Amino acid sequence: MRANQLEAIIETKNLTKRFGDFTAVDHINLQTMDGEIFGFLGPNGAGKSTVIRMLTTLSEPSEGTATVGGYDIVAQADRVRKIIGLVAEKIILYPRLSAVENLMFFGELYGLDRRQLRDRVEKLLTMVQLQKFRDTSVGGYSSGMRQRVNIIRGLLHDPEILFMDEPTAMLDPQSIRFVRDLIKELNQDGKTIVLTTHIMEEADELSHRIGIIDHGKIIAADTPAGLKSKLGCQTLEEVFLQLTGKALRDSASNHVPMRRVMGRV
Ligand SMILES: Nc1ncnc2c1ncn2[C@@H]1O[C@H](COP(=O)(O)OP(=O)(O)OP(=O)(O)O)[C@@H](O)[C@H]1O
Ligand SMILES: [Mg+2]
Repeated sequence: MRANQLEAIIETKNLTKRFGDFTAVDHINLQTMDGEIFGFLGPNGAGKSTVIRMLTTLSEPSEGTATVGGYDIVAQADRVRKIIGLVAEKIILYPRLSAVENLMFFGELYGLDRRQLRDRVEKLLTMVQLQKFRDTSVGGYSSGMRQRVNIIRGLLHDPEILFMDEPTAMLDPQSIRFVRDLIKELNQDGKTIVLTTHIMEEADELSHRIGIIDHGKIIAADTPAGLKSKLGCQTLEEVFLQLTGKALRDSASNHVPMRRVMGRV
């Protein structure tokens, strides 16, 4: 972590999101420090992705505010978008396009200069070891390869803050290790990272601090060691289950996210 780790780079104040009369995110107050990896944990449906969508300006809060890099997520959404990258929960890539074509397309949406963008794409493809498949359609990639493209898609404009929503879900052990090491490297290069994951060992290995959300409310926030010692637990999994219980979190509404309608790439 960098020296200025004590400064909050993300701050939410009573951040709330309602869908009809259902409150998905309920008055949360959270801080992410500059230069840290912040592990954002919670059971299925707890509200993690909804918080990330608000902080990345994809959806507006119903109540409350938040700043990212000092900018208000609603009033200064354009400024926020320039300094953040998002590795979304579901991969959005054009299957018929190659890695280079996908990345050039998304890079141009950021308004990046074509020549600079080309260099950046090559550098990022090298970083995730995909130069060899740069011109192959991503529809033919393995899940691990697609996720590596998805990750660098979020890095095209070299953002200060990176939101990663379950970046290791559904990957094989090799890809998981690769992505975890990449997250550490990106953080060592100075990026603040907000990471969601259901893998407790992963959160423990990577996070400087952890926030746990349940039923839309923050129920704990501390370092992994702090959480374990406070609750007298050996592992983060024990902490998590002690705080959130062992009951399954089945719920369903008539709302069907677009990604489920469209499938995933
Ligand atoms: N657009 C929407 N309309 C209605 N309900 C929604 C919408 N988006 C999310 N929800 C609901 O809000 C709750 C929180 O969802 P969210 O996706 O934020 O959970 P999560 O913590 O990311 O879960 P997971 O671990 O399964 O990814 C869920 O009950 C979900 O069904
Ligand atoms: Mg989610």
